[in-house]
Amino acid sequence: MDKVIKHLNSILKFESKYYNRKFTISKDVCEDENLFESLVKDVMVCTKCNLHTTVKNKVFGMGPRNPKLMIIGEAPGADEDKEGLPFVGRAGEKLTKMLEYININREEVFITNLLKCRPPQNADPLPEQISSCLPFLQKQVELLKPKIILTLGRYAASIVTGNGSLRMLDYIEKDSISIFGIPVISTYHPAVLLHSKGEKLENIRIQIANDLKRLKSRMERI
Ligand code: URA
Repeated sequence: MDKVIKHLNSILKFESKYYNRKFTISKDVCEDENLFESLVKDVMVCTKCNLHTTVKNKVFGMGPRNPKLMIIGEAPGADEDKEGLPFVGRAGEKLTKMLEYININREEVFITNLLKCRPPQNADPLPEQISSCLPFLQKQVELLKPKIILTLGRYAASIVTGNGSLRMLDYIEKDSISIFGIPVISTYHPAVLLHSKGEKLENIRIQIANDLKRLKSRMERI
């Protein structure tokens, strides 16, 4: 239990520092805060896959308990593993810029990942790791009830929107995809902006900008 409280406090501490304002866990922002806290605890004590043997800090996710937008990335990297918080490294900086492009502050969004533990060497998530971790994500969606979801990268896109098999992003560039009746928009993982160059980078930027504009326009209609 100490570990859970420590984790919740570290989320809150980081949120206040990062967003320069105070966050409190209070009943009015999540329909069932007890369920939320017990979910954090379940993640913290989880040993369902091999990643619990190498993880430094599990990354539950962060953001308001009643978000309009929920963002789902792939898995924590080294910085996230160190801090216990999602998207706090270089990919996180790109994500913040992506959101700023459509005038959304990070503080308005709940950000999490498909996997709550870092795969060593940032390896691609394995099927057994995904299937062990997926129930946590499903529960997060159920409790937080976001109005719209943005997935980042092919793993989050294919797992959240599909049947578990990896599909090309082109197939899911439609507004009609939804889980639990919540619309899902998918775009590239922000890390691709760090690793691509030249014309490829330009094309990806254009596609991300289009996806973000679709997201914004969809959000304005909710
Ligand atoms: N990449 C992810 O997919 N998630 C993070 O939290 C950080 C980097």
